[in-house]
Amino acid sequence: VSEASRSASETAALLVEALPHIRRFADSVVVVKYGGSTIGNTQGAPDGGLASFAQDIALVRSVGLRPVVVHGGGPQIGAMMQRLGKVAEFRNGLRVTDAETLDIARMVLVGKVNREIVAAINVHGALAVGLSGEDANLIQAAQRDDDLGFVGDVVGVDTTMLTNLLDQHLVPVVATVGTDAAGQSYNINADTAAGAIAEALVAEKLIFLTDVEGIRADPDVPGSLLHELSAAELDGLVASRVASGGMVPKAQACARAVRAGVAGAHILDGRVPHALLVELFTDGGVGTMVRP
Ligand SMILES: Nc1ncnc2c1ncn2[C@@H]1O[C@H](COP(=O)(O)OP(=O)(O)OP(=O)(O)O)[C@@H](O)[C@H]1O
Ligand SMILES: [Mg+2]
Repeated sequence: VSEASRSASETAALLVEALPHIRRFADSVVVVKYGGSTIGNTQGAPDGGLASFAQDIALVRSVGLRPVVVHGGGPQIGAMMQRLGKVAEFRNGLRVTDAETLDIARMVLVGKVNREIVAAINVHGALAVGLSGEDANLIQAAQRDDDLGFVGDVVGVDTTMLTNLLDQHLVPVVATVGTDAAGQSYNINADTAAGAIAEALVAEKLIFLTDVEGIRADPDVPGSLLHELSAAELDGLVASRVASGGMVPKAQACARAVRAGVAGAHILDGRVPHALLVELFTDGGVGTMVRP
């Protein structure tokens, strides 16, 4: 068998393998959280992977799924704070968000990161529309704790605008700033917001693209990836602190979402090019899958 013919038959086999998955997911809502730590961090991609992520989202949309992108931006906010000479303040390990920090976070999330993702997706057609959670009361928030300043919890999600965009075959790209009933804005954890949006839309899937291959049984051992977990097992990993730091809001969002009717939640390595496509359209799963 020559090199060319082998690769042609392999390519054909892959396309055939994708078909049942494409049919199964027709019209399904898939909420994809693109981690701030993943943006610009994909292996072997000259632009850090934004273009390949955008291509994947365009493809997912083109074959009939309804993707919603929710993005983070922690490192990008940190970098801007540093450029502006603003020193971050932490209380009990959590970033204090004063009015100035909120301004910076909002400018970076809505004005920079959101725009970059939207522009990258729209290279493939008039697909993406950027939103802040402030738009049409998408993310309704309440202050978490006086000590932390303008950090909010999600208290409600109004999906009207998202549903309208999805019905128009557009791809909403959401920056996770929320507002309370008085119009005050809050910075919202993007994992929590992605989970709440997936729940509100009763999405078929909630997928986190992050900077690790999934949830590990031992956070320091790369080979200890947990392939499949129940919501109860996830709760246990948070309680025992096996999942810590940035993994906690993801684990909690996955557990909540599957209990609320989202069929599957996944934590994947966003540094691996096209991890999203491999998860959605091939028989073999990658990363950690969470089932009810
Ligand atoms: N059990 C665990 N398995 C794997 N990673 C873990 C575990 N516990 C904690 N972590 C940490 O969680 C991190 C992923 O969360 P992190 O908040 O850093 O990324 P992100 O949410 O994708 O990006 P961003 O917060 O910028 O949007 C990993 O890099 C790892 O350090
Ligand atoms: Mg995080």
